[in-house]
Amino acid sequence: MPRAHIVGWGKYVPQRVLTNDDLSRMVDTSDEWIVTRTGIRERHLAGEGETTATMAVQAARQALDGAGIGPEKVDLIIVATATPDYLFPSTACLVQDALGARRAGAFDLAAGCTGFVYALGVAAAMIESGAIRTALVIGAETLSRITDWTDRNTCVLFGDGAGAVVLRASADDGGVLATVLGADGSGSDLLLLPAGGSRHPASHQTVAERMHFIKMQGRDVFRFAVRVIPSVTRQVLERTGLSIDDVSLFIPHQANGRIIESAVRDLKLPPEKVYNNLERYGNTSAASIPIALCEAVEEGRLKPGDVVVCVGFGAGLTWGATAVRWTHPQPAPVPAWRRFLRRLRYALAALGSRLRRLWWRV
Ligand code: UT7
Repeated sequence: MPRAHIVGWGKYVPQRVLTNDDLSRMVDTSDEWIVTRTGIRERHLAGEGETTATMAVQAARQALDGAGIGPEKVDLIIVATATPDYLFPSTACLVQDALGARRAGAFDLAAGCTGFVYALGVAAAMIESGAIRTALVIGAETLSRITDWTDRNTCVLFGDGAGAVVLRASADDGGVLATVLGADGSGSDLLLLPAGGSRHPASHQTVAERMHFIKMQGRDVFRFAVRVIPSVTRQVLERTGLSIDDVSLFIPHQANGRIIESAVRDLKLPPEKVYNNLERYGNTSAASIPIALCEAVEEGRLKPGDVVVCVGFGAGLTWGATAVRWTHPQPAPVPAWRRFLRRLRYALAALGSRLRRLWWRV
């Protein structure tokens, strides 16, 4: 059976930074409250013209370039997101077009903050089955567009960004070792975006009642997260036959520092094996794990042979964990002429897209 190896990774976070002090001028909160209760100090927000698709494309290009794989080699693109550009078409199709990934199938995956783990599991299974060879798995979010900036319970938590990995079939051992996915829809009202779907289509009333913004029962979600992270971690390790001592790096969904601390205590993981970049980005939902994964490799915290366990939890309720044996080193810097050719290729893809847009109307 072919194994699904992570051979490329990339991330994109928008330039604009919103600090806790900025927030304290918008709602009744303080830097002290946010840091002690969440661990977050700042978050990045999408600029005008930036969307989930545009950020996903940036992360995906970096991941493909790092892997040395051209977009025409990609068989499947999955974008895990709770903030797609449109209800339809999928954000994945917009990414497919922008990359010029002409051979790829493309779809979005909605599993809240667990989306990236779900997407990685689906893509890995398709590679292992032999159905595809190369997949681009992206987690991307523009949560700032569905955040109620008057609600201090939620607005201090979220940020925007995107992360991506390239998964490639290989006969070598390693890569994605196991994935465990879970869901319990009885908790659907604990974290939701009430309006804009078929239940409450947009109306004057839904806008007036601020139903197009995230609603969350924070304490309940907190309790759920603290319970589910250790149990799903143990399940995924059981499937691989590994123990917690074999884990080189643990990457939990970056939602709240206290949730991470509690889970880590329960799992008896030493703090140096736990990745945490929450203070710089806040909760970027489906993007948080791939952004963290990418930074961990860039910082030299993941090397070939290491086992990384990623755990997600969030709206649905959903949860999931994946264990990966890392097999690829950080790529060498790319020479300038190759960077130029890659930029040219993406420019040609954009031109091709424009021409095809005209063609559909002929
Ligand atoms: O990614 C999806 C998963 N989402 C999560 O994992 C989120 C999970 N939940 C949490 O992270 C935490 O529950 C929060 C950070 C959202 C809230 O922290 P908490 O320690 O659970 O606070 P709380 O909701 O119990 O509220 C405690 C107090 C309340 O005041 P009273 O009623 O005790 O007077 C809140 O009104 O803190 C107040 N409060 C704030 N105060 C200052 C809530 N938000 C703020 C704020 N600034 N931003």
